[in-house]
Amino acid sequence: MSKTELYTQTGVAMTCRSYEEYQEMFMLEQDFLGKGTILDIASGASSFTAELNQRGFKAMAVDPLYKLSIEEIGSLGRKEIKIASQKLSQNENLFVWNYYNSLEHHDDIRNCSLNQFINSYKRDEKKKYTFQQDCLLYLLMMIHFHLFFVITLYSYIKSNLILNSI
Ligand SMILES: C[S@@+](CC[C@H](N)C(=O)[O-])C[C@H]1O[C@@H](n2cnc3c(N)ncnc32)[C@H](O)[C@@H]1O
Repeated sequence: MSKTELYTQTGVAMTCRSYEEYQEMFMLEQDFLGKGTILDIASGASSFTAELNQRGFKAMAVDPLYKLSIEEIGSLGRKEIKIASQKLSQNENLFVWNYYNSLEHHDDIRNCSLNQFINSYKRDEKKKYTFQQDCLLYLLMMIHFHLFFVITLYSYIKSNLILNSI
């Protein structure tokens, strides 16, 4: 059986992985997460940002779907969990379940993540969640801030060198 037959996907799905799933997927370490503000791009209905903020890290999320209402996002999330579950159940015995243990547990994790996302979104929509245009603005502001910082530092060092050489 080919890989495409194992799990067919047309277009982009909006999944809702949990913090722990991200941690496993990207081998994330606590030290690394604490280095600065984390921007989860294409965050969907994942609870990653919500859980990071809960754990004391600084995180924001961006996804074009945040143009929709929270009711619409929630409904898309629930629909995707059902679709994914149905697709996985067709070839359940061909997947390795070491991490999830079972399809039921997989669905539980995703439902729990979706609920955490919805609660966090309702609470912090303006502060932590944005769609693309705003994100580009945020990135530009960060670049601008860093350039400003580098230029200021450069001017400071240069003026100090001049003063010391006088
Ligand atoms: C498979 S989901 C991943 C969601 C989440 N990161 C997770 O792991 O559960 C892919 C997400 O990418 C978003 N997406 C699609 N095109 C995008 C784009 N151009 N920029 C940012 N996000 C995009 C979709 O809206 C969707 O929510």
